[in-house]
Amino acid sequence: MKPYDKRDFPVANVRRFLEPGPIVLLSSAWKGERNIMTMGWHMIMEFQPSLVGCYIWTENHSFGMVRKSKECVINIPTADLAAKVVRIGNTSGRDVDKFAEFGLTAQPGAKVAAPLIAECYASFECRLADSSLIGKYSLFVLEVVKAHVAASPEYPRTLHYRGDGEFMISGTNTRRYRKLFKPHML
Ligand SMILES: Cc1cc2nc3c(=O)[nH]c(=O)nc-3n(C[C@H](O)[C@H](O)[C@H](O)COP(=O)(O)O)c2cc1C
Repeated sequence: MKPYDKRDFPVANVRRFLEPGPIVLLSSAWKGERNIMTMGWHMIMEFQPSLVGCYIWTENHSFGMVRKSKECVINIPTADLAAKVVRIGNTSGRDVDKFAEFGLTAQPGAKVAAPLIAECYASFECRLADSSLIGKYSLFVLEVVKAHVAASPEYPRTLHYRGDGEFMISGTNTRRYRKLFKPHML
């Protein structure tokens, strides 16, 4: 395999390669109000318990809703929802009810008061597990307490943000390298 000819690259833009998981829609509820925000900055922190770290900007309406309710739902949209995903990220729940505005259906969760989004492929009900990093990093450490995942397709076409208005849509999947993994690393 040939080495790559690498050039200097702005450090502020490395996120374009590192932003890993799919773009998600984070739904929340507080005092009779419901809301949705688009979120790309999240990471798996542990799988038992199932912990996910989420960056929620202090200026977002969702910030106060999740901090006060200590709950939310992480929903996984597919590529057919791309335009709505961007529009949801361009509007604030301070001004509009985004469920009504974008024609999305709120479904009750089993364990949290925040609504699931019916049109999303998967919905993970979360409770705030650790608030100690919110003040310094706006990082909410959430525990997934209940997961709802569509039976099909096996591989949804998820959206992955690369910055600068560009999405990558998930495509090829391979199990070709599975045999190389140590069993406990699978
Ligand atoms: C593709 C995309 C990814 C985004 N990722 C994040 C994110 O990781 N964290 C965040 O706080 N805001 C993120 N935003 C911005 C919020 O979605 C946006 O500020 C939204 O309007 C907040 O809504 P709210 O005020 O109703 O909470 C993203 C927006 C887009 C379009």
